[in-house]
Amino acid sequence: MITEDGRRPDYLRLSVTDRCNLRCIYCMPPDGVPRVGHDDLLTLEQTARLVGDIHSILGLRRIRITGGEPLVRKGVAGLISILPPGPEITMTTNGLLLCETAAELARNGLSRVNISLDSLRDDVLRAVTRRETSLGAVERGIRCAVEAGLGPVKVNCVVLRGVNDDELSRMVEWGAGMGVHVRFIEHMPLADGNPVRETVLRDEIAGLAGGGSPGRVIGTEETWTRGDGLSFGIIAPVSGNLCRDCRRVRLTARGVFMPCLSGVGKVDLRPLVLSGAGREDIVRRVIGAVNLKPERGDCRSLPMWRIGG
Ligand code: 5AD
Ligand code: SF4
Repeated sequence: MITEDGRRPDYLRLSVTDRCNLRCIYCMPPDGVPRVGHDDLLTLEQTARLVGDIHSILGLRRIRITGGEPLVRKGVAGLISILPPGPEITMTTNGLLLCETAAELARNGLSRVNISLDSLRDDVLRAVTRRETSLGAVERGIRCAVEAGLGPVKVNCVVLRGVNDDELSRMVEWGAGMGVHVRFIEHMPLADGNPVRETVLRDEIAGLAGGGSPGRVIGTEETWTRGDGLSFGIIAPVSGNLCRDCRRVRLTARGVFMPCLSGVGKVDLRPLVLSGAGREDIVRRVIGAVNLKPERGDCRSLPMWRIGG
């Protein structure tokens, strides 16, 4: 299916839980999020069925499993094995539970993981995540993922002014040592109850990460190559216009289908599933929603933990 302005939405971001074992300051409200009873979530079987219906319309090329933290949802590895065959399946995770799960995830068909890491300093990591995490714990997760065949691993770092903006260059060098590709993400100030800080934008990030020259933007990432040959990525949701080439749609853990992060066009599919609606009904709603995908959405209104990045 192609939207009126010519975009082909064939990339599904599938959130399987609102919960997380961390409380990142750019994502979660300080007091955590309201606990959703499991009764409000799609079961894994319902999720797989809806993904099948969405796939039958959009011809998905890729499904990225997100959260909250996807690995805190019980049975997520089992979900992978019942998703429709065809699309590549990837995951964004904070990495902390990967050593327990990586082998099973890979066996069931997960192809790669992106891992979030915002600092190389344990005190900064603890301040950003508001939990007792450490660089060592995330590095262990990365190694487990690579051993299980879930590489090449990309590491996502949200740049926060006055917090981690002094260690970007060092992170590029750390990434080279670990054999992972580091990407820096412009911080999007969202309606999540956290103090607003001025976003460090693309040009400044590039300088802080060691400069060099930019390549083409592929997907959402612009890959830079430094003078010393090391490379890093920049994802610029604030200064760039990612909407123009956006091929993403989303399904939240509660069964809301979203053609855009802004919330425009979203449709709650769970009541349809619960009332035993047939495939045609669901397909009609999904097509209606995709037709409402705005050319440019305003993404500032929704909290990230609910929609999965
Ligand atoms: N700005 C930019 N990226 C964000 N993420 C979450 N919240 C934000 C935000 N406010 C991204 C981070 C994180 C992933 C789960 O979602 O990359 O690693
Ligand atoms: Fe959890 Fe990821 Fe949000 Fe951090 S950014 S609180 S790891 S969901």
